[in-house]
Amino acid sequence: MTRIVLLFVLFSLNYHSHADLIADTCQKSEYPDLCNSTLRSDPRSAKADATGLARIMLEAALIKASTTFNQVKKLLSKTTDPVLKEYLTTCTDLYESIVEEIPKAIQNVGSDNNEAIHQGDSAMTNADTCEGIFSEEPNKRKSPFTANNIAVQHLVAIAEDILASLG
Ligand SMILES: *[C@@H]1O[C@H](CO)[C@@H](O)[C@H](O)[C@H]1NC(C)=O
Repeated sequence: MTRIVLLFVLFSLNYHSHADLIADTCQKSEYPDLCNSTLRSDPRSAKADATGLARIMLEAALIKASTTFNQVKKLLSKTTDPVLKEYLTTCTDLYESIVEEIPKAIQNVGSDNNEAIHQGDSAMTNADTCEGIFSEEPNKRKSPFTANNIAVQHLVAIAEDILASLG
């Protein structure tokens, strides 16, 4: 009987501390709402430690980046405006790098967090560059991927916040 009670207490404490880990982690992040919604939508988060949460966040960033990569290629294949074509070609190259950099970062999580942060930085810079080229004078175009470029950067930034706290 005592053992069962003890198990229950341990389980509750454990459960409680996991619930708090997501809340604590996201409170400290640059984008608390995106952090919270991303982690809560992945069932693995409930049992993950901070390292695991960083990995889950990078995986969410990779999914967003892969979706964006496909959307950019699709739009490029349909675009006739030469300026937009040029910009989308550049974005295709940039996203090709991003979808290589994020998996490298994921591989380094837990073994070389600084390297993971470094690769995350490259991915964020590339997404930012894709967004920036659309506002180049004198050939400005409305970026079709603003929300995606921002989401990729924010998801990686949250992962980096978690990684930085791990040291
Ligand atoms: C986090 O997300 C969950 C489910 O999406 C929600 O119920 C909760 O209120 C959110 N917490 C914060 C602090 O935003």
